[in-house]
Amino acid sequence: MFTVKSEQEIAYMRESCRIVKETLEFVGKNICAGMTTKDVDTLVNKYITSCGAYPSELGYEGYPASSCVSVNEVVVHGIPGDRVLLDGDIVSVDITAEKNGFHGDAARTFLIGNVSEEKRRLVRVTEECFFKAVEGLQAGVPLFNIGHAVQTHAEANGYGVVRALTGHGIGRQMHEDPSVPNYGRRGAGMRLKAGMTICIEPMINMGTYKVNMNHADGWTVTTADGKPAAHYENTVLIKEDGVEILTL
Ligand code: MF3
Ligand code: CO
Ligand code: CO
Repeated sequence: MFTVKSEQEIAYMRESCRIVKETLEFVGKNICAGMTTKDVDTLVNKYITSCGAYPSELGYEGYPASSCVSVNEVVVHGIPGDRVLLDGDIVSVDITAEKNGFHGDAARTFLIGNVSEEKRRLVRVTEECFFKAVEGLQAGVPLFNIGHAVQTHAEANGYGVVRALTGHGIGRQMHEDPSVPNYGRRGAGMRLKAGMTICIEPMINMGTYKVNMNHADGWTVTTADGKPAAHYENTVLIKEDGVEILTL
């Protein structure tokens, strides 16, 4: 069951989401070749906790870190560790913060040093997919118009849309209803309501849409063909006359 947030709850969401946004800006200023993914996680943990918030991925269903740091062929849920960031890598950093009982959630894909035009185009198109999805979005719009917009733009560019993972509602829980797929038929699905808060998060692969799950660690999702993937996410408030992107 999805929830419609009250004004007070939306105020709390705005605060958690502002912390997420600032943390990602801080990571963007500091991330560079030679760091490990664990170093990135340390930046995230320090920044979020310094804001009086909790990095709510830590301990979520046993997840062992404060961020997901996913390099190149890792689509999402890369566990921070000793992998060193190299010149030419693309690195998605996906974080959540909880304060006053409410979560914010966003992801950016960062470029490390000199990145090939091929990979830069993937990152750019993935961000564009998000903005196509929020174009015209408001109360009354069918949920699957979001996925339709993402899929249309990604596939027009020759990319694969990950189906195994989706966006989601968010609020008192990191993951709430409804599920927000990145593919779908225009006009289908429930009609969005003012006061819903959802995460729209295109996960776009340069090659096949198919992914593998690492059963050894239970988290890391990689592209089935080993080609790179990008991820871009924001928490979005649905309003009568449009949206408010809470993590921008
Ligand atoms: N932030 C992710 C999302 O967009 C969830 C990460 S799973 C976790 O839904 F285990 F790392 F928390
Ligand atoms: Co996320
Ligand atoms: Co999310």
